[in-house]
Amino acid sequence: MTQAFETTPRTTLGKVRPHQTQNESLVFEKSSPGKRAYKLPPLDVPAVDPGKLLGAARRDQPAELPELSEIEIVRHFTRLSTWNYAIDLGMYPLGSCTMKYNPRVNEFVARLEGLAEAHPYRPDALAQGILEVIALLQKCLIEITGMDAITLQPAAGAHGELTGIMLVRAWHESQGNPRKRILIPDSAHGTNPATAAICGYAVENLKSNTEGGIDLDALTRQVDEETAALMLTNPSTIGVFESQIAEIAKILHAKGALLYMDGANMNALVGKARPGDFGVDVMHLNLHKTFSTPHGGGGPGSGPVACKAFLEPFLPIPVLVRKPAPNSAQTLGAPGLDSETWEGTKPSQLTWDYNRPHSIGRVRAFYGNTGMLIRALAYILANGPDGLRLTTEDAVLNANYIRHGLEDLYELPYKTASMHEVVFSDKRQAAKGVKTGDIAKRLIDYGFHPYTVSFPMIVHGAMMIEPTESESLEELDLFIEAMRSIAKEVEETPEFVKSAPHSTRVSRLDEVQAARKPILRWRPTHD
Ligand SMILES: Cc1ncc(COP(=O)(O)O)c(C=O)c1O
Repeated sequence: MTQAFETTPRTTLGKVRPHQTQNESLVFEKSSPGKRAYKLPPLDVPAVDPGKLLGAARRDQPAELPELSEIEIVRHFTRLSTWNYAIDLGMYPLGSCTMKYNPRVNEFVARLEGLAEAHPYRPDALAQGILEVIALLQKCLIEITGMDAITLQPAAGAHGELTGIMLVRAWHESQGNPRKRILIPDSAHGTNPATAAICGYAVENLKSNTEGGIDLDALTRQVDEETAALMLTNPSTIGVFESQIAEIAKILHAKGALLYMDGANMNALVGKARPGDFGVDVMHLNLHKTFSTPHGGGGPGSGPVACKAFLEPFLPIPVLVRKPAPNSAQTLGAPGLDSETWEGTKPSQLTWDYNRPHSIGRVRAFYGNTGMLIRALAYILANGPDGLRLTTEDAVLNANYIRHGLEDLYELPYKTASMHEVVFSDKRQAAKGVKTGDIAKRLIDYGFHPYTVSFPMIVHGAMMIEPTESESLEELDLFIEAMRSIAKEVEETPEFVKSAPHSTRVSRLDEVQAARKPILRWRPTHD
């Protein structure tokens, strides 16, 4: 084949070229004895015998650690860092993961000394600043979701689900019967059934209708007095808003079952619709999706759980409460939003309440991933209510712009209006032997991170694209152009797409070998 782009992929469309061509050996392979990147000062304390201190734990031979100079270390890791793709390099359309930009203002605020260095063991009276941050975030998230109470403890979306379903179980137990089953639609994220099973419930599958929503007749037939809850992702993983949600809540409530909303996709609802207003009893949020805190390798995550008042007694301990200050001198700083409503102008103090007899207990050490809470609040305050609403509109607009730009070339299995993401399938390309994974890998040559491949499972050969609100029109156009160009390549040179990527340091990897026999550790080779 003599395609112009066979060895040199088209550069007019390509965006990011992160792969330095220099070969990079491991630090262990670069090592040579005696090289140093530091020099310790002379010992200024009495020397001790490590053998005496460590006893049998002392190793006989020194560890085989790499020995390099400072510049070698700096260059090695800098070069490695250039092999990564990142949201700061280009678009990351990984559907369902909401890889939105992490604004610099979040990082600035999270690094402020008083917040970054607030120790979790600091007495409440001396931690009023960080407690006000937590209280204000709680208040904002309660307002955004339309719920009554919240915990910020869970460290991820799945952890939030676990906490939420533990609340469901605790409530049912308090009513005399924990119940047996949880209903979950077939479009759900895999963490939903896993959560239900870990909480001791049997999982019952609910089939989606042709629009990708819930079949109300099937739901009515399936809910009974042993149904603990329905776990519903809204908008769903195929990017469809469940417009019958209020009716669904009524069907569940009529049988005493609860409605759990997986709110991981709240980035399509913030400022527009509130789950608390459409019948949801308990839900989680993914701050690392909706509220722009770092995601993936950059984490950690945060999965707050918001609930209606009747579930509040079961929330994990400790719960943040506002109490009268022992004396007015202990009321620090300007009053937060909550303190404005604190019985007029009485001096108050935030404190952690552990005395909660119905609580499900702790779900995490301390109070959650506090650094993420600060970042999420920075994002909310920087945007303000109007900005957040606009963000939601932009996320939905961007997904629909991509849908419009590609739907003549790629199969759209669900024609229902798209929200924050659009799911195509590889049906047309599969006729040429090209699968969703091949197209995703070819996207790398065009300088984009791949979209989500083969998920959700209800779409065979799924191509799940979520641009988020972060992307400009120019970036979206480049992405559409790349996808259109790949569709043309599939028609003309399918084998070329099937062997992509062509521009990376390593070409197509043996994924089965990589999954089954990964080599993750360097081991010394001694003769
Ligand atoms: C719909 C949905 N539910 C749950 C989760 C799980 O969240 P986490 O990965 O933070 O555990 C995700 C993650 O993307 C999700 O998209």
